Amino acid sequence: MSYNRRKFISFLGKTSIGAVLTPQFLINCGNITTPVLKETITEKKTGKLKNFVLEPIQASDADDLLLTKGLNYHTIIKWGDNINNADTFGFNNDFTCFLPLDENNPKDGLLWVNHEYVNPLFVSDFNYRNYKNPKQHRTKEQVDKEMYNVGGSIVRIREESGVWKVVENDPHNRRITGNTEIKLNWDTPIKGKTSVIGTNSNCSGGITPWKTFLTCEENYDSCFGETEYDEKDNTTHKPSKYGWENFYNYPPEHYGWVVEVNPKDGTSQKHIALGRFAHECCTLYELEDKRVVAYTGDDSNNEHLYKFISSKPGSLKEGTLYVADTINGKWLALDWENQPILKEKFTDQTEVLIRSREAAKLLGATELNRPEDIEIDPITGNVFISLTNNKVKNDWHGSILKIEENNGAYDALTFKASTYIAGGEENGFSCPDNLAFDIAGNLWMTSDMSGNAMNKDDKPYMPFKNNSLFVIPRYGKDSGKVIRVASAPKDAEFTGPWFSPDGKTLFLSIQHPGEQSKDLNNLTSKWPFDNDNIPKPAVVAITGTLIEKMNVLNKIES
Ligand code: FEO
Ligand code: CA
Ligand code: CA
Ligand code: CA
Repeated sequence: MSYNRRKFISFLGKTSIGAVLTPQFLINCGNITTPVLKETITEKKTGKLKNFVLEPIQASDADDLLLTKGLNYHTIIKWGDNINNADTFGFNNDFTCFLPLDENNPKDGLLWVNHEYVNPLFVSDFNYRNYKNPKQHRTKEQVDKEMYNVGGSIVRIREESGVWKVVENDPHNRRITGNTEIKLNWDTPIKGKTSVIGTNSNCSGGITPWKTFLTCEENYDSCFGETEYDEKDNTTHKPSKYGWENFYNYPPEHYGWVVEVNPKDGTSQKHIALGRFAHECCTLYELEDKRVVAYTGDDSNNEHLYKFISSKPGSLKEGTLYVADTINGKWLALDWENQPILKEKFTDQTEVLIRSREAAKLLGATELNRPEDIEIDPITGNVFISLTNNKVKNDWHGSILKIEENNGAYDALTFKASTYIAGGEENGFSCPDNLAFDIAGNLWMTSDMSGNAMNKDDKPYMPFKNNSLFVIPRYGKDSGKVIRVASAPKDAEFTGPWFSPDGKTLFLSIQHPGEQSKDLNNLTSKWPFDNDNIPKPAVVAITGTLIEKMNVLNKIES
């Protein structure tokens, strides 16, 4: 039994409240994404927060990580740091996830960190601004550096006297990169292969009930391009942004999947059954009979929200992938065998999965405004999806979509969809991206206004200044309001919010500070203010009385 689970049960015991629905694996890691009974959070327990006032910080364009009163931070690891004698921490960290090594000790465990993409200016000493056709001018050595700096890192971290530190040279420390061999969890080879080279574009992710990491391949087409089809299904290769295919002829079909990583030995597999598209994240729910439901969104204009329901316990291979029709509240099966319209267009289920976007559109899936992170509200069980924006459709500020599955059953095939909250000046935020519920059910949210649009007079993002971290408190006077609690360095976004098992630390990535720098002599950010003054993506630990007060369940238990 886990540290938190035991505490949680004894807490419930005192108040004699019924069964808890929250699965152990989510409590384990301090991130509840599955419902508890509403009654478990009673007036008695939340009373202390009734008059609790959260002091917001103002929007800021300062090149610094600013925090509201009651919060502080320290840096755990940053780009280029050694993790062992052979490997260094990759670039542009996104999703973070912490698993304790011993469930009785929440202060020692493995941190997984995604490395989404590289800025060639810093990583491979390549400034595309100097070339007309940037792809042709990269050398193989430059591409190799870029491929090394994507993927993910596993590092053992330990908290001592309130400070999280990397355990250098721990045997668990390792890199997964653009060159790591990864097998496909599928019976049919894809482009002739049953295992492929590398993972890239690792944006957000998730965790499985069996305690492995999920890392999601998002904008994979920027690395090896994409296969495009004309009306007669003739194919052409659309070149990538980075031009890696100039040196490594890897098929685009090997990317765009959800990847599972074993924390203990780094072995990985790509889950074909979950479809191929720009996966932002993958959020799992374990049903009573141990089958799993996986929610995953396609972060691109007018793309879709998907869910996979397994037909066997613990399987991410056997089952059916569905796509959302949010207008009629229906999950539509991407099932070649039983959907004549798919049978007519595609040769088999493997092709349906490789070309998920086209299959989804044939079925009548609803176009959404770039689905980003997905979390399950621990109190109500509703599913929340960030729709970050859709500039083409004049949705500049995005919103959060709420899905209520029929009868609260995650394997239901019908649901109700509504907007939970919309971005914009009235609600004080724009472009919602990552979400995280804490143990008490407060919703933490990061924003992702793009670097080239922030703080610009001619853009609608001016009032919001730098990207920020917000919390929507569940209790007290500010319940339901969006409160800014942190402001990011110049050009950066906060990503990967993840709570430690005792709820006292919020792990957070600071991604792409200084991204708009035109060259190394004109840096827009110098955060984290290293001696070399080069801006570096990093993972920080945010702690303090505010988190401990907000995390009311945790506070009352202890
Ligand atoms: Fe990598 Fe959709 O953010
Ligand atoms: Ca994101
Ligand atoms: Ca999340
Ligand atoms: Ca984003």
